[in-house]
Amino acid sequence: MLFGKTILITGVASGIGARTAELAGQMGADVIGVDVREPPERQASFVKGDISTPAGVAEIVRQLPMRIDALANVAGLSGNTGLKATLAVNFYGLRALSEAVAPRLREGGAVVNVASIAGYGWRANIERAKALTAIEGFPDAGLAAKHGLKDEEGYPLSKELLLLWTMRAAHQPLFKDRAIRVNAVSPGPVETPILKQFRAVLGDERVDSDITRVGRAGTAADIAPAILFLCSDGARWINGANLATDGGLEASVNAEVLGF
Ligand SMILES: NC(=O)c1ccc[n+]([C@@H]2O[C@H](COP(=O)([O-])OP(=O)(O)OC[C@H]3O[C@@H](n4cnc5c(N)ncnc54)[C@H](O)[C@@H]3O)[C@@H](O)[C@H]2O)c1
Repeated sequence: MLFGKTILITGVASGIGARTAELAGQMGADVIGVDVREPPERQASFVKGDISTPAGVAEIVRQLPMRIDALANVAGLSGNTGLKATLAVNFYGLRALSEAVAPRLREGGAVVNVASIAGYGWRANIERAKALTAIEGFPDAGLAAKHGLKDEEGYPLSKELLLLWTMRAAHQPLFKDRAIRVNAVSPGPVETPILKQFRAVLGDERVDSDITRVGRAGTAADIAPAILFLCSDGARWINGANLATDGGLEASVNAEVLGF
């Protein structure tokens, strides 16, 4: 399904992005990797760049080919570097890159956003999410004070915004007019370097409770096929959706929250 396709993948130096790049290559895709860090192993096509600023995004896009089949937005921060940095990478930078890459995506192409079960609260916090996704480009320095946001809210908030924007973008003319699908994949806890940081930010109890609900933590190899399926033409009628890729964690949380 990916043979001969050009797939742009961010976050390829580690964890889920690294495995997604490896699997896409095994499936016959030409992978262009992006990361702020050099990958430990040399990759055929790699762009070193930082998605957290307008200049960083522009510099990455300048180095990309004119025709790309799919963009997998995997790069992310855990929240341990503060709210501003986390929102800049996990939402505003991701959105800026997607919008800048859109004209190079072929008609019928795809954008896949790696969100998280941590964004589960988007419905409960919809007014805040609407206000923060309405900001164009990158927010100014006064964002946290203006909206009363705390540092520890950075990670879940970034994923709430991402889930809301995924649905919006599916109907945004920039993507929709050329039949570019925009979807999300939401993992639960996954054994990658970021998980140790989640333990520090969220506490062991929360992470262990999520793992206990589904029997084990996920692996990068559990998440990569879901991302690549949504990148492929096999997902041609899936748009604006969020695919929980979490061993049943979201179903378990729904049962608890909705009391069934
Ligand atoms: N591991 C988990 O438990 C888990 C759970 C749910 C969602 N996720 C999401 O999955 C995605 C991948 O996480 P992971 O587990 O592979 O983590 P990871 O830390 O192993 O990889 C993240 C990658 O993103 C890159 N990155 C960070 N800031 C960047 C920037 N400014 N520009 C470009 N690249 C940047 C890092 O260098 C790193 O290689 C993230 O969006 C994360 O929020 C992870």
